[in-house]
Formats: sequence, structure tokens, C-alpha cells
Amino acid sequence: MGKNISRFVCNSCGQVSTKWLGKCPGCSSWNTMVEESYQKKPVSRNTKIEAIPLSSISDQDIFRLSTGISELDRVLGGGIVPGSVVLLGGDPGIGKSTLLLQVANFIAVDGKTVIYLSGEESLKQIRLRSLRLNIHNDNIYLLNEQDIDLLDEYIKEINPELVIVDSIQTVYSPEISSIPGSVSQLRECTARITNIAKSNDKAFFLVGHVTKDGVLAGPRVLEHMVDVVVYFEGEKNYSFRLLRGVKNRFGSTDEIGLMEMSGQGLVEVLDPSYVFLSSSLPNSNGTAITASFEGSRPLLIEVQALVAMSGPGYPRRMASGIDQNRLALIIAVLEKKTGYNLSASDVYLKVTGGVFLKDPSVDLGIAAAIISSYREKTLPADMVFMGELSLTGQIRSVPFLDIRLKEVEKMGYKKVVIPGSTYRNRGYSTGLEVLEVNTIEEFIDLIMEG
Ligand code: TYD
Ligand code: MG
Repeated sequence: MGKNISRFVCNSCGQVSTKWLGKCPGCSSWNTMVEESYQKKPVSRNTKIEAIPLSSISDQDIFRLSTGISELDRVLGGGIVPGSVVLLGGDPGIGKSTLLLQVANFIAVDGKTVIYLSGEESLKQIRLRSLRLNIHNDNIYLLNEQDIDLLDEYIKEINPELVIVDSIQTVYSPEISSIPGSVSQLRECTARITNIAKSNDKAFFLVGHVTKDGVLAGPRVLEHMVDVVVYFEGEKNYSFRLLRGVKNRFGSTDEIGLMEMSGQGLVEVLDPSYVFLSSSLPNSNGTAITASFEGSRPLLIEVQALVAMSGPGYPRRMASGIDQNRLALIIAVLEKKTGYNLSASDVYLKVTGGVFLKDPSVDLGIAAAIISSYREKTLPADMVFMGELSLTGQIRSVPFLDIRLKEVEKMGYKKVVIPGSTYRNRGYSTGLEVLEVNTIEEFIDLIMEG
């Protein structure tokens, strides 16, 4: 038997200390260190592992398992890598369990086995969901187990291809005295799972809850321990759901996946641009369409701006869907270069559909929406804007212009405003009416005349 060890762990960042501290040295928060005791097992490591030459590892062993949902495969970098641990975070009710049950079914239909470990819901509840999804495969083994120490045995018994842990906050290790979901339990269980995954070459999906601020509950170390972190997001009032990779040891984190919650589970959205375009009404003041590049595909998105008289005090700037600093920068360039008195106005900006745009090529669309609201001039409904705004008021070129133009054309728009001399110089051809602008002044002339 090991001996009982007492230590203090920070509830917010996971910092460990041998004595109690009022202020956590890791994250500087006050009163977050809590005491916990755990039993340390005597370490017994006596098998030495041989080092092997790189090329002796067969490339046939490296394959990816499809989840059956191409949008999820895309975010994972092409499918599930055996031996990897994927953390799926999201608000309660967003559809995490639904998504994973569908993945389990796809793998089970292929003749492989899946363990679905649920500490969150009863087996009856999962069965109810599976009835709704029309899933009846006997290769899916449900487990209402919370003790992580027993997982190894289940894996030996069932030999699954994939293990789903729903959720990491509900499992525990009896060696640690704190309650499930506490920082030390989360860390211990995730470490244990990572170990099991690597040594058995099994893939794991861990469901993780997010806090009110939208980050995964638990210490940041959790994200460092797993291979892939994917967030499942969406607004409760809409049926669209967004898969976003924030960490991926096996692929890019730029990709987003789009899904829709239907009466029979989640379905892929094959034409993503439709999701982000104006719901129904013709364009009104303050809306503009822009073409963003997300991961490996173009996405047409509507941005909305509201410029309103400011009350006393500082004017408000609120951005949802783009970085607040980018909005401040675009406003500053508009003020400086156009003489618009935006410092006396509140500016609100919103990107539809809940995506967060990092592509600077949407600058021109944002500027267009702000100008449209400020000058109370409706922009042509068949026009799309793209271009990066420099601090000097120049409109800079955008990468993948040809792919973006194709998407604009496909979505039925007729006109496109792009950075000057990029289009003709590169010899692109398109059926769109192409309007080129070099500076923000030229751009404003174009908008106000047109
Ligand atoms: P769920 O997967 O339980 O979410 P999470 O595990 O993230 O908490 O999904 C819950 C919501 O999804 C619930 O409000 C019902 C809805 N839903 C559908 O609209 N269609 C379906 O086919 C299913 C299974 C659920
Ligand atoms: Mg759930």
C-alpha cells in the first residue's frame, strides 16, 4: 500500500503546492488552493523499452478512422488517429452526446466495437436518444461506470476501437480523495486515459463541459494533456452548430465544421455559405456581405454594424465574431481617412452565425457595414466586399482570390469589390462585375455613388 499524501491544488489553474497559500503562484488568484489527500502507489517500473529506428515503423500502421461525419473528420485533420485522445467541449444541451452516439454508430456499423461510458446519463436516457437517432447496434457497449480504474479491464474484455467518456467531469479515480470534477480528479483521470489510449492504441473521445466564459471547465493542463481539443458551439435559438478545433497534434486548427441539429440528430451542412447569409429580408442599412477564408474553404458571411449616437462618457465599441482590437483599428482608419466623426458614436458589430473571423480580408466588409450604418445608405444586395485594410488606408490584396470569387459567383451574387490591380494582373476570369479599389477614400466614393 502507498502512503497518504496531502497537498494543495489550485482550483482554477491546477498549481500544486505542499503548503497552503493565500495567493496561487500559478495564476495569482486568491483563495483558490484547496487541500486534498491521495495515495501514491509504489512505483514499479522494471520493463525497459527498446528504442527503434524511425523507418522501421510501418506506414501501414498509420491510418485514420472516419467518424462518418465529414465535417468532424475535417476538423480532426482527416479522421480519428488510433491511440489519440480528443476532448470535445461545449455547453450543456449543444449536442455533444448526440454527436458522439452518431460517431459510435458509424464505427459500430463497420463491425468494430465501441465503449460508451456514461457517468452523466442513465442507460435508459442513452437508449432513448438512440431510439430517436434510430441507432440499434450491438457493437456499442454502454457502461454506467464512473471508476476510471476499471476502464483497463473493460477495454481488455471488449477490445473496442473507440472509447467515449461522457463526461470527463463525472469519472473519478478512487486514489484521489477529492470529488469527481475537481481539478485533481480531472487531471488524474485524463492522465490515466491518455496512458490507456497510448498503450492500447485505442482512440478516446472525452466530453468536457465549458464554464460560463466558454472555456473548458478545469485546469488548462487538461488541454495540454490531450491530443486534440474541439469545441462544439452554437446558439441555442438556432439549429446550426459549429465544430472548431483549438488544438490538434495531427492537423490544422483552422478548419471549422458545420452541422445542423435536426429531428433525427446532427446532419452535415454541405453548403456552409447559406448558413451565414441574411435570413430573409433584403439588405438594410449596416449589413454587408464579405468572403472569409476558413481553413481550406471560402465562406460568405454577413456582417452587421450599428453606429448610434453615443451617450455621455466613452463611446462604446462592441464586436461579436471579430477581435475587438480589429474593430477599433478599422474605426480609427475610417476616422482619420474619411473625417467621419465616429468618436461621438457607439459602434456595434456582429458577424452572423456565431463564427469568429480571423481572416483580415473581411476588413473591407466590416468597413462597408460601418459606413452603411453611419451614412444610412443601403448597400447593393448583390455585392460582396473583400480586402484587408492597412493602417494607412490602403486596401491590401487577399489570398485565394480566385477561390473566393468562385464562391461569390456560386452563391448568386453579381458584383464584387476587391483590392485594386489584383484581379486583372493575375488573369482570373469571372462572370462577376469586378470593382477594384486601392484606398479607403476610393472605396467610400464607390459606395456613396453606387
Ligand atoms: P445532447 O446531445 O444531449 O447535448 P449535450 O450532450 O451537449 O448536453 O443534445 C441535447 C439537445 O439536442 C436536446 O435539446 C434535444 C436536441 N436533439 C434534437 O434536436 N434532435 C435529436 O435528434 C436529438 C438526439 C437531440
Ligand atoms: Mg450530454
